Amino acid sequence: MWHLRLWDVQDVAVFLSITLYMCHLAGAISIHSPQRSLTRSVQEDVFFSVDVASSGIPTIQWTFMSGAVSRTIGTWQPGVSTNITEDYSSRVQPYDNGSMGLSDLRLQDAGYYVVTVTEAAGSSKDAGFVLKVNEVLYEDLQYLSVSALALACLAGLLMLAMWLLDKAYRRIVAWRRRRKMPENDVTELQPLDRCQSEPRHENTPEAAQS
Ligand SMILES: *[C@@H]1O[C@H](CO)[C@@H](O)[C@H](O)[C@H]1NC(C)=O
Ligand SMILES: *[C@@H]1O[C@H](CO)[C@@H](O)[C@H](O)[C@H]1NC(C)=O
Repeated sequence: MWHLRLWDVQDVAVFLSITLYMCHLAGAISIHSPQRSLTRSVQEDVFFSVDVASSGIPTIQWTFMSGAVSRTIGTWQPGVSTNITEDYSSRVQPYDNGSMGLSDLRLQDAGYYVVTVTEAAGSSKDAGFVLKVNEVLYEDLQYLSVSALALACLAGLLMLAMWLLDKAYRRIVAWRRRRKMPENDVTELQPLDRCQSEPRHENTPEAAQS
């Protein structure tokens, strides 16, 4: 009878410790996230949505990794304390469920984001996210096409101006020639003619000859 009881107690203890161990292995912490891979454009916002469950108040830490760079974005304990790194303080929004909002994205923000959840007991779990940041290409294209259009307009205007100038010049030349010719005809023998240079005198007899 005693023997049997002892076994019972031992069984229960073993069962309990195994259960506890399994629980520990599986982690009392759970991180649920609907989406692990995100793509955004420059200047947009991104929301890393997670729902953290743990026993007690967890410590949530977000880390950014890209190539050789690894830096802490922020650490917070829901309802207790929040510590966001200075570089990110204006752009990061921490949430109690572990989520993090990052606004005004830059190209350098592309990379891996890891959330690490740590329990008071010391166990921790983490989850990674991939963020792609695209350049706003259509704006560049728009800018390019607008500049091309402006340049084309400018070139067109210049050509028009040159054509007009050329036309005006020809007209002025023609007008001056026309204004001079009757003068020459009428005032050929006037005193003004005498003041003019030698070729004029030579021309007159030649014209008379021909
Ligand atoms: C975490 O909380 C935020 C804000 O309350 C909510 O928008 C988001 O959906 C939550 N995330 C999950 C995975 O439940
Ligand atoms: C906030 O975190 C930084 C580094 O992550 C640390 O140097 C600083 O002491 C922390 N500040 C507080 C108030 O915990």
